[in-house]
Amino acid sequence: MTSEDSFQTQNIASRAASYLWWQRGVIYEVYPRSFMDSNGDGVGDLKGLISRFDYLRWLGIDAVWLSPIYRSPMKDFGYDVADYTAIHPLFGTMEDFDRLVREAHARDIKLILDFVPNHTSDRHPWFIESRSSRDNPKRGWYIWHDPAPGGGPPNNWLSNFGGGAWEYDPKTEQYYYHAFLREQPDLNWRNPQLVEAMLNVLRFWLERGVDGFRVDVLWHLIKDDQFRDNPPNPYWREGADPYQKLLELHSTDQAEVHAVVTRMRHLVDQYQDRVLIGEIYLPVERLVQYYGIDLSGVHVPFNFQLLLAKWNARDIARIIAEYEAALPKGSWPNWVLGNHDRPRIASRVGLTQARLAAMLLLTLRGTPTLYYGDEIGMHDVEIQPAKVQDPFEKNVPGLGLGRDPQRTPMQWTAAKNAGFTEGEPWLPIAEDYPQINVETERDDPFSMLSLYSQLIKVRSAEPALEVGVLEPVETTGDLLSYVRRDGESAFLVALNFGTKPETLNISGMGFEGRITLSTWLNRSGDSVRGNLYIRPEEGLLVRLLTQTQSGDVR
Ligand code: NOJ
Repeated sequence: MTSEDSFQTQNIASRAASYLWWQRGVIYEVYPRSFMDSNGDGVGDLKGLISRFDYLRWLGIDAVWLSPIYRSPMKDFGYDVADYTAIHPLFGTMEDFDRLVREAHARDIKLILDFVPNHTSDRHPWFIESRSSRDNPKRGWYIWHDPAPGGGPPNNWLSNFGGGAWEYDPKTEQYYYHAFLREQPDLNWRNPQLVEAMLNVLRFWLERGVDGFRVDVLWHLIKDDQFRDNPPNPYWREGADPYQKLLELHSTDQAEVHAVVTRMRHLVDQYQDRVLIGEIYLPVERLVQYYGIDLSGVHVPFNFQLLLAKWNARDIARIIAEYEAALPKGSWPNWVLGNHDRPRIASRVGLTQARLAAMLLLTLRGTPTLYYGDEIGMHDVEIQPAKVQDPFEKNVPGLGLGRDPQRTPMQWTAAKNAGFTEGEPWLPIAEDYPQINVETERDDPFSMLSLYSQLIKVRSAEPALEVGVLEPVETTGDLLSYVRRDGESAFLVALNFGTKPETLNISGMGFEGRITLSTWLNRSGDSVRGNLYIRPEEGLLVRLLTQTQSGDVR
């Protein structure tokens, strides 16, 4: 860093300091079964995660979002909770958990838990009571319905994991609704006692010191009170996900859900500096409703557009513009590049483009969320039929919907089982782990890991990138470009999605540009004037300097 750089950084650092940690920071998702195993049972655990905190500190991430670690029969690998306030023994004990919080905080890492409010496991004591009789006090905690007048399920709603969404209970002669597995009955968020019980779950973890929650399928919580049929999806084609046959018009995203979100937010706001993140798959105009009236909703409605976008410059430019335009006043944007439900970015777009994706994620305006292993370029792993674990793949086989490929163990070293476990890993490990692993990549300045760690470092050192405004730069074809600016400090981002070189005239943008980082990694420090040359599939981060800043005496 030059002395001018550090002078500027100090000058504007105070502005950035007025932003909250979850606005400035980078979120990193850990899928606990696959991150680090400490006891040789082949499944990751809390002690394993603790042992890798130093790595996460080195990488520079600010918060870990941990997928569910609660007691569960593991039908949906923890998203079927049987006790919201107990740790599954596979992952450790409550003592381990308390240590996890302490060790994270000691390293300035925040801990975000996964809250699964839409459904429980069918083994949850609440459901066991609820199904015991029609007049059990907990009957109304779940969604029970009489059969249709002529018999059969009450309506046509489908389960996300294949088949119908209603399960008949012969004992009480009613159906219960399950948006996911039949072992995951949906809770009834119209029931005040249930709401209280669930808010108490949040209190329990907030008191234990967690920094926030990622709320599972938030847009699902309230369903149509008349249980009307969902309409057919005219765009559905044979071979596509059968759940998509219907539009989820009446089964999700009902107006009353926002009152529930506000209750959660109100509770979280009673604790200092916590964050509420919603998992919401909806079109942008509906997604941003979850910020709530006067921002009384979630702080972060996860923005999944990069996961779903067609991977080209024009579509992504449009997505950025539409998203920025849709954001309510005062709301904070966010971008997600991967998660445990979607194919990995390296498999979706290839390794070279995945480097562009890294630069995109970490230079856009808004909180970035990355998925464990993406930072080393892990790809989806083909799972032999006998090894399939995911219930989605078991129920709807052969359509490529299964999520095991993106949940394989983290690759730490070139040693046996990639350093993940001493035992038999619960899912196979990618064959190329001797090359793609943390230890090997840390020493290689051109690795994906080096790119990620440099991007994260420069982002957190530069308020323009962390919190600055985003100004689109007009481009055509395969080039995507924007400027991030905070006061006098500005960075140009230029991403060439195509396989031919591109140029961008930067004369109007500053006296000169100095390359901070290239996804090809060997142009750092180069000065540019006039035309910026961008190699095929290259991403460039360029500091824009005025004549005074450049210190150029030529
Ligand atoms: C969304 C979670 O991310 C996914 O993994 C899970 O299967 C469903 N919700 C059901 O909880």
